[in-house]
Amino acid sequence: MLTGAGVSAESGLPTFRGADGLWHGHRVEDVASPEAWERDPELVWNFYSMRREMARKAQPNAAHRALAEAEQALGERFFLCTQNVDDLHERAGSRRLAHMHGELFRSRCSVCERKPFGDEKLYPTLASIPLCACGARIRPHIVWFGELPFHLQLIMDELNRCTVLLVVGTSGLVYPAAHFVHWANSRHGTGLPPVRTYYVGPDEPANVAAFTHVFGEKAGKILPGLLQLA
Ligand code: OAD
Repeated sequence: MLTGAGVSAESGLPTFRGADGLWHGHRVEDVASPEAWERDPELVWNFYSMRREMARKAQPNAAHRALAEAEQALGERFFLCTQNVDDLHERAGSRRLAHMHGELFRSRCSVCERKPFGDEKLYPTLASIPLCACGARIRPHIVWFGELPFHLQLIMDELNRCTVLLVVGTSGLVYPAAHFVHWANSRHGTGLPPVRTYYVGPDEPANVAAFTHVFGEKAGKILPGLLQLA
């Protein structure tokens, strides 16, 4: 399974490219990059503090719950990869999941190799941003544009063994996640079992042509019924 911002939309969390896709007049790409961090760490922490606040108030919806229930039924045959940094999948009960773009409620040093740590705090001003023991600023544990996603080896291993790939609520514009469906399809004729590929979401993603089945509806409406068949 692969989820994107759309799976949290019914919990009240805005998608990245929905509406005008802007935050205080900035494109997301302009506040979620190493260049933005260099230029204006306060602005970057303002963005992630706001997202922490919204995620803290949000509750898992029927789609998150259906995915957690499917994991209960399927055990190790189920694996969830999410581009989302909120914790709504965990709060719904998902355990076999990988946050390929990082986690909103973790922070780490922007320079040294000290481990990321759990962090729910908000940092509204430059002076409030904590410093690591090495002296560098603490940054969000988020994969920014231009950085390498986390858990790629695990994700590729799971893609190689899956027989169904269900993709939910993503615009199919951000790589490498947008490529997973092509990767799954490219197994045809390799001796590995063929993969059925499903997309669920109200708008067609950019890579729609690659899916064998498309459900053009909201995740909360489709997933509870669809995953009962799992
Ligand atoms: P986008 O905002 O690009 O796309 C969200 C998708 O969710 C859209 O295609 C909507 O049609 C769909 N959607 C909206 N409501 C839905 C619902 N109720 N059920 C199902 N689908 C719904 O978000 P992502 O594709 O997740 O990266 O964005 C990918 C990455 O780009 C993000 O992880 C983030 C972003 O910039 C980083 O921050 C590195």
